Amino acid sequence: MSLADDLATLRASARDRLSAATSADAVEALRHELLGRSGELTVLLRALGTAPEAERPALGRAANEVRGEIEATINGRLETLRGADLERRLSDEALDMSAPGRAVRMGHLHPVMTLMRDLREIFHAYGFEVYEGPEIETDEYNFELLNIPPDHPARDLWDTLYVAEPGSVEAGDPRPAEDGTILRTHTSPVQVRAMRALDLPIRVITPGRCFRYEAVDASHGFEFHQIEGLVIDHDTSLADLKGMLEEIARALYGRDTRTRFRPGYYPFTEPSVAFDVTCLVCGGPGCAACGRTGWMTILGAGMVHPEVIRSGGFDPDEVQGYAFGLGPDRMTMLRHGIGDIRLFFSADLRFVTQFAEGR
Ligand code: PHE
Repeated sequence: MSLADDLATLRASARDRLSAATSADAVEALRHELLGRSGELTVLLRALGTAPEAERPALGRAANEVRGEIEATINGRLETLRGADLERRLSDEALDMSAPGRAVRMGHLHPVMTLMRDLREIFHAYGFEVYEGPEIETDEYNFELLNIPPDHPARDLWDTLYVAEPGSVEAGDPRPAEDGTILRTHTSPVQVRAMRALDLPIRVITPGRCFRYEAVDASHGFEFHQIEGLVIDHDTSLADLKGMLEEIARALYGRDTRTRFRPGYYPFTEPSVAFDVTCLVCGGPGCAACGRTGWMTILGAGMVHPEVIRSGGFDPDEVQGYAFGLGPDRMTMLRHGIGDIRLFFSADLRFVTQFAEGR
C-alpha cells in the first residue's frame, strides 16, 4: 500500500472515530493517538522520508491537509461536547444560572401598625413628636392625676386589669397590688408624664397599647391601641383643637371628608368632645357599620382640665392645652372593612398576610 493510501485511510478513520467519541476526554485521548509524538499521523509523516523524492512535495501537502482537518474536527468536537457536558452538569445539580432569584420571604407590618405609622407621619408634619409611656402604669397616673379620685363613678368608664399583690394569688387571696400597679386603660397617663418631663411648648403624640377588663366581642378587645395627642402652650384654644382634628381627618381620609363635634364627657378634659367623620362604609346615608347614623366616632378630645395641668406641674392660669385620644384599631377596621377586632390579635397569618402590600 502506498503512503497516499495510508493517509486517505487515516483521514477516514480519524473522522469516524472522532465523531463516535462521546466525551471531551475521549476526544483528547484520540488527539494523542492521532497526533501525539508516536501518534498515527506522526508515524506516517516519519515514513515520508522513505518515499520517492518526486512524490514527497505532494505527499507533504496531503499530510498537512489531513493534520489540519483532524485538528479542526477535534476542536469542533470538543466545543460541542464541552457545551453538552456543562448543560448536563447544570441540570444534574439543578443549577440554572439564568433563573431569576428566589424571593426572600420578608415580614411586614400589621395593618394597625401601618395605620399608626401613617398617623405618626401626618402628626409629624404638624410638628408633633412621639413621646411614649409605660404599659404597666400606676393607679396614680392612670386615674388620680387625671382628676379621677378613688371611688369616682367615672372609673366605671375604664374597667381595669390590676396587677396582683405579690404572693396574694399563691395564698389563694388575690388582691390588687398595694402600690397601685395596673395595666394602663388608656394612653392619657402619658399626658402628665409628658408635662412633667418636657418644656413648653409641648406637642406630642403617644402611640401605644392599652388594656381593659372587657367582655371580648367583635368590637371590644381586652388589648387594643390608642394614640394620645397633647398640646400645651400659652393661648391654645378649642378652635385650635377643632382645626387640628379636621386637618388630620382630611389628611387621612381625603379632602372631602365631613366631620362633626359632639359634646362628650371625660374627667380630664373640660369641655370634652367626641369627634365623628362621615361613615367610610356608606359615605353618609347610614348603614349597619355606623348604626344607621352616617357618622363614625374616631376619637375623644377636649381642653386639658386645670387639675391635670396642675398635675403636670404647670399653672392653669398661665397655660392651657388640648388633648385627644384616637382609636387606631377602629380606624384600621374602617380602612379595610374588617368586621371583627379579634382578628387583629388572633395570630392567624392568613389574616395578617393579606395586608402585606400595606407597606
Ligand atoms: N383617654 C380617653 C379614653 O380612653 C380618650 C381621651 C383622650 C379623651 C384625651 C379626651 C382626651 O376614652
